[in-house]
Amino acid sequence: MPKYHKAKLAKGFKYGKSLHENAMNVLIIGNGAREHALAWAAAQSEKVNVVFVAPGNGGTALMGGKVRNVPLKAIALDGLLAFAGQNNVDLTIVGSEQPLELGIVDLFRSAGRQIVGPTKAAARLESSKVFSKEFMQRHKIPTAGYHVFRNTISANNHIELTTTTYPQVIKASGLCAGKGVFIALDKEQAITANNALFEDRIFGNAADEVIIEDFLQGQEASVFALTDGIRYRLFLPAQDHKRIGNGDTGKNTGGMGAYAPAPLVTPEVLRKVEELIIQPTLKGMVEEGYPYTGFLYVGLMIDQGEPSVVEYNARLGDPETQVVLPLLKSDFITALQASVDGTLGEVPFEMHRKSASTVVIASGGYPDHYETGKAISIADEVAEMEDCLVFHAGTSYEAGRLTTAGGRVFSVTALGENLRESIDRAYLAVEKIGFEGAYYRTDIGAKAL
Ligand code: AMP
Ligand code: GLY
Repeated sequence: MPKYHKAKLAKGFKYGKSLHENAMNVLIIGNGAREHALAWAAAQSEKVNVVFVAPGNGGTALMGGKVRNVPLKAIALDGLLAFAGQNNVDLTIVGSEQPLELGIVDLFRSAGRQIVGPTKAAARLESSKVFSKEFMQRHKIPTAGYHVFRNTISANNHIELTTTTYPQVIKASGLCAGKGVFIALDKEQAITANNALFEDRIFGNAADEVIIEDFLQGQEASVFALTDGIRYRLFLPAQDHKRIGNGDTGKNTGGMGAYAPAPLVTPEVLRKVEELIIQPTLKGMVEEGYPYTGFLYVGLMIDQGEPSVVEYNARLGDPETQVVLPLLKSDFITALQASVDGTLGEVPFEMHRKSASTVVIASGGYPDHYETGKAISIADEVAEMEDCLVFHAGTSYEAGRLTTAGGRVFSVTALGENLRESIDRAYLAVEKIGFEGAYYRTDIGAKAL
């Protein structure tokens, strides 16, 4: 076995043979570092017998022990359901948004299978920004003022004829992998964005409806809840780094790093997030007839202590998961099982009193064109580094070779007694991982220090 097999992920694990008497088989759906972190957290539970990851990546392939990759795509819903039946899967965890939008939760539930995630109707909080904005308006949940458009003429007329302040934010309503948002600094940029969405159809049907909304000032943070539809439990608040360059410059990406807890989310801010956002959201979804279950991601803008919603997502964040899960002290699978059983109020949900940071190592060129198939080297000592977890994002492990297979390649997490310590530790490990063209930001967490 090559040395990177051990890349710390294996260490500290209880892969022990003595299984819990009700040993469960778990299926995780997705292939990023988020799903590697989900597999890591699931594998640590003594209740878990096998963790299947469909399709997984090089990191989950190398975990060994309880963890196995399954060659099924995240959108192959029928195949996944059949697999779950054939392999006695007790609990399925959906990592990414596409299967949720396609209705995987409805499908599994109708077949009597337990699954963590929202139904297709509830997942509209993410899959339709028009739905989510109108929902927030109905329930008086704080968010930016907005208008909805269904064709170029009306969107451009709005820009030409109304006296609006800039920037304005122009968004495709449907799923665009985090890339469907334009910040227009003036009229001309706004019209260019409208045309790109409606005329050039750069996001296809995802931009059949377009939202133009006010620009929110402040700092962003993400809060994640696990909910059974009524009760909820919160993970530690995190902050992502969406831009490719240091100092939050350059293009938007899927996320180049994260840390938690985010000091920006003070106890007072968190109280407001719960009272003004999370509670009315869950209550509103119940009242409208599609209770929201699973993970709820609330993307926030916080301005002078006042939170408003930038977006909801129907799943955990990537890379935020790579910091919030290692900070969860209680058993993850117990909490997930309780969210499915409707007993979330009765199980422990405790956090470590530590900080975590994660640094994403990307392929050169990301988020634009990049090459894959580059050989990866990980220094042996990374496996021995304390409180360090190397999550793979876009890697492939075949015939004994670990190579790059995506834009984001690794998400290197470290824990520390404080944020500074966690950041320094993460970078120590990052410097020991190499491949041609590797790129990472050097300022993850800096703005919170
Ligand atoms: P979204 O896909 O809606 O999360 O938007 C992607 C990113 O665009 C967000 O993380 C923000 O950085 C930015 N953004 C979106 N909407 C707004 C807004 N109304 N005001 C300011 N920034 C925004
Ligand atoms: N980190 C942003 C997201 O997962 O959507």
